[in-house]
Amino acid sequence: LYYWYKRPRNFPPGPRGIPLLGMVPFLGKHTEKDFRKWSKKYGPMMSVRLGQNDWIVLGDHKTINECLVKGGNSFSGRPDHPVFKQVTKNHGVAMVDYGDHWKVQRRFGLTTLRGFGVGKRGMEDRIVEEIAYLNNAIRSNNGKPFDIAELMANGVSNNISSIVMGQRMDYNDEIFKTLSKKAPNRLYLVTYSWLYVYNSDTIGKITKLVLYMPFLRNLLFLFLSKPKEAIVNWVSQHKSTYDEHNVRDFIDAFIGEQKKETDVSFTDLQLIQYVRDLYVAGTETTTGTLRWAVLCLVHHPEKQNKLRKEIFDVIGREKTPSMKDKAQMPYTCAFMQELFRFRTLAPLGVPHKISNDVQVQGWSIPKGTWLVCNLWAVHNDPDVWDEPSKFKPERHLDEKGNFVQSKYVMPFSVGPRHCLGEQLARMEIFIFLVSMVQKFEFLPDPNEPRLSEVQQGVSGFMCVPHPFKQIAKEV
Ligand code: HEM
Repeated sequence: LYYWYKRPRNFPPGPRGIPLLGMVPFLGKHTEKDFRKWSKKYGPMMSVRLGQNDWIVLGDHKTINECLVKGGNSFSGRPDHPVFKQVTKNHGVAMVDYGDHWKVQRRFGLTTLRGFGVGKRGMEDRIVEEIAYLNNAIRSNNGKPFDIAELMANGVSNNISSIVMGQRMDYNDEIFKTLSKKAPNRLYLVTYSWLYVYNSDTIGKITKLVLYMPFLRNLLFLFLSKPKEAIVNWVSQHKSTYDEHNVRDFIDAFIGEQKKETDVSFTDLQLIQYVRDLYVAGTETTTGTLRWAVLCLVHHPEKQNKLRKEIFDVIGREKTPSMKDKAQMPYTCAFMQELFRFRTLAPLGVPHKISNDVQVQGWSIPKGTWLVCNLWAVHNDPDVWDEPSKFKPERHLDEKGNFVQSKYVMPFSVGPRHCLGEQLARMEIFIFLVSMVQKFEFLPDPNEPRLSEVQQGVSGFMCVPHPFKQIAKEV
């Protein structure tokens, strides 16, 4: 009881729940909604006891900006959670704590992704190449109802394959199936309550035993082990064919750094984990956003028609879409921005850790405290958005029909730790969405009860739609 009651001095207020479990038993299916409810009572900077830890929850745009952007480095750590540690072995980039290793690897990731044309024509060509396969796969359903999830995951994973190992893979390739289906598409199952309880001192100790029992551990991490084997193979193939004058992809660029021997963090384990991070962080997120896009198209035929009209007017029926067209497509930009707002793919972002003792908004927060940002709450703030629960791309256009970029739409988070793949994701979503709407009309499946427009999806680390089918009719 003493530990349950105890809190650091001058700590942000918030609900404590019950001893041992804190507020975990009171969390519903959408943690972000519970957090917003409590933020209304305790303020945009509150604490929530989860298991036996007090987490800080940032609940509005101003507070998130003040901490993640202005507070920068002090707010850019990652929690040393046993599950993250087990999965990443403190390597890669996404779950590595703030420090020199992360800084070197993040810089390498950004420069390398740019070097492979993320934001330039090279990457665009790779995405365009993939859309032809995706469109053929859609066409092969001959206008019958089908679930687009798997096709979409294939296309998106292949964009990563193209960056990482220089070439796309066949959708029926066994290794590809494991890479695109197993590892990256399970994050929605990782729920916050599970993570919190798992980490709490008492209950966590019991569940942590799982990690010491090889059979159970393998079961738990099965979806991560196969992809690792494939990546190890690619790395050894790349090493045997490496040519410093012809850097083919991300793996080659990394081998180049290893050869320079300027930084000790460029190890084989780091490379394997980095590649895995790119697949995991880059597949389910982009796939999920595109699945939400299809659902919005199906439920809003008039908006789908407007989008197609703009595509035909600017690009035509046959020409392949290009990022250059985007500047002349305000409705498409508004549709995308509304998509990011309407369904926040990572409603609570990825957890952060505070690296130094800090003072914010008059509160004192000790080093080591864990923190999440309620990105969903920013996207649904009634003080910013009129009727936030409605899908209205028009809200992002001015009276002359020009697109208005909004600082209140932040699906990729903000600050030094914001999404490493943001540019790539924006490019993939634009090209895939435009190409699909150019070639197909998406209609509801008449045999299934029409899914509610307000479908809220399954929410864990990611919020993705429940499985659904639609019809794609060639236009
Ligand atoms: C981190 C969202 C696509 C790679 C993140 C974070 C969010 C996010 C919210 C956490 C930022 C933070 O900690 O504050 C998204 C969304 C995407 C997307 C909504 C698609 C619509 C991608 C893609 C890639 C990628 C395509 C790579 C190929 C990463 C990596 C991190 C990250 C590596 C960790 C960065 C770090 O810790 O330094 N993303 N992401 N993401 N994302 Fe994305």
